[in-house]
Amino acid sequence: MLARTLIERKRDGGRIAPAEWRALLAGYVDGTVPDYQMAALAMAVFFAGLDRDEVRALTAEMLASGAALDLRHLPVGRVDKHSTGGVGDKVSLVLAPLVAECGVAVPMMSGRGLGHTGGTLDKLEAIPGFRTRLPLPDVVRQLERLGCALFGQTEAIAPADRKLYALRDATATVESIPLIAASIMSKKLAEGLTGLVLDIKRGSGGFLPELDRGLELARIMIGLGADHGCPVVALLTAMDRPLGRACGNALEVEEAIMALRGEGPADLMRVTYALGAEMLVLGGAAADHDAARRRMDVSLSGGRAAARFQAIIEAQGGDPRVVDDPARLPQAAACELVTAARDGVVAQVEPRAIGRAVVALGGGRARMEDAVDPSVGVVVTARPGDLVRRGEPLATVFARDAEGIRMGTEALRQAIVLGDEADPPLPLISHRVTSAGVTRYPD
Ligand code: URA
Repeated sequence: MLARTLIERKRDGGRIAPAEWRALLAGYVDGTVPDYQMAALAMAVFFAGLDRDEVRALTAEMLASGAALDLRHLPVGRVDKHSTGGVGDKVSLVLAPLVAECGVAVPMMSGRGLGHTGGTLDKLEAIPGFRTRLPLPDVVRQLERLGCALFGQTEAIAPADRKLYALRDATATVESIPLIAASIMSKKLAEGLTGLVLDIKRGSGGFLPELDRGLELARIMIGLGADHGCPVVALLTAMDRPLGRACGNALEVEEAIMALRGEGPADLMRVTYALGAEMLVLGGAAADHDAARRRMDVSLSGGRAAARFQAIIEAQGGDPRVVDDPARLPQAAACELVTAARDGVVAQVEPRAIGRAVVALGGGRARMEDAVDPSVGVVVTARPGDLVRRGEPLATVFARDAEGIRMGTEALRQAIVLGDEADPPLPLISHRVTSAGVTRYPD
């Protein structure tokens, strides 16, 4: 009876009290509240929203539904980064070992790609043998030894969110800001963090393309962090074009390895450094952003960040030789250059279309249970604003067969728009949000 009453109340714009969230979620996890009632409630929340106290109660109850890491014995700060997801976003693969090498522990719980966006777990699993399913005691041991563990949400962590997120995915109720905020924060708070950095993507390739929606999500998540004594800093970054050049699992791991060797594309390095500087300051390993950047320079140029990634790969069962020899990563059977059909300027490199092309090649999933092919994807070298001449290379397609090459080439021709002029792209990093407010990010 409780669930029906709450659905009706939320449908009519009313509030759900903390004790009611507790009873509802307990019933959902133990199966006495059926999926259809929870789906109806999610849809009511989608339209009616949640106020600050309701988001706080939902987050706290989803967090309390499972286990949490206790990392208080670590002698260093514990900081993670969460991205709202995009195309070509391999930042986590570079950032986690880099920040760990600079003296902050990074318990990085990541997700899989869904829809047009990629996921860190799928990228890591492109490394032969890499295990992302780690029991929590192994996560703790690895953090003690290497300062970093890269793993996925298990049944033990926020099971109420795990069940509800799968349901929201199937009922078109993911895109609700309070539900997204509660879902992400219930998992992040289970990591026992002393700080969290958010990378909120804006632009056509992000989940929440509009600036005001990204800022709203940032503010709610910062408030939820504060409720649990976890400072949160958010950067708003551009996803109106892919980040870096590689899009596709093994191709992105290779680009991340190049970045760890100090040879990454400029946009990837800039976003990585900006997020890394926030993490090092929040984690107490650097007094300010300048000091943090100097630390990261030393770790990258001395090869120590790459060596740390190698050690993490080895600890999680993967083949560490990929760091010295990325050719050991899965290789696509076929590849082909896509060239400019005319002289002009690159007006647009549309990330959503590129992400969908990677999925269609087999490199992503339309449904959670789909398998992914780690070898396929695209490498886009054309950037918005570039001048190109007919016949010059724009991108390369990596596919399983000739049909994949044909389909990928066609998709890239649609996604990379050549014209006579280009609109200015979004600033790569536009805003910084903290509990003190929103500021423009310096160029
Ligand atoms: N990622 C999550 O973990 N939850 C959401 O609701 C959306 C993205």
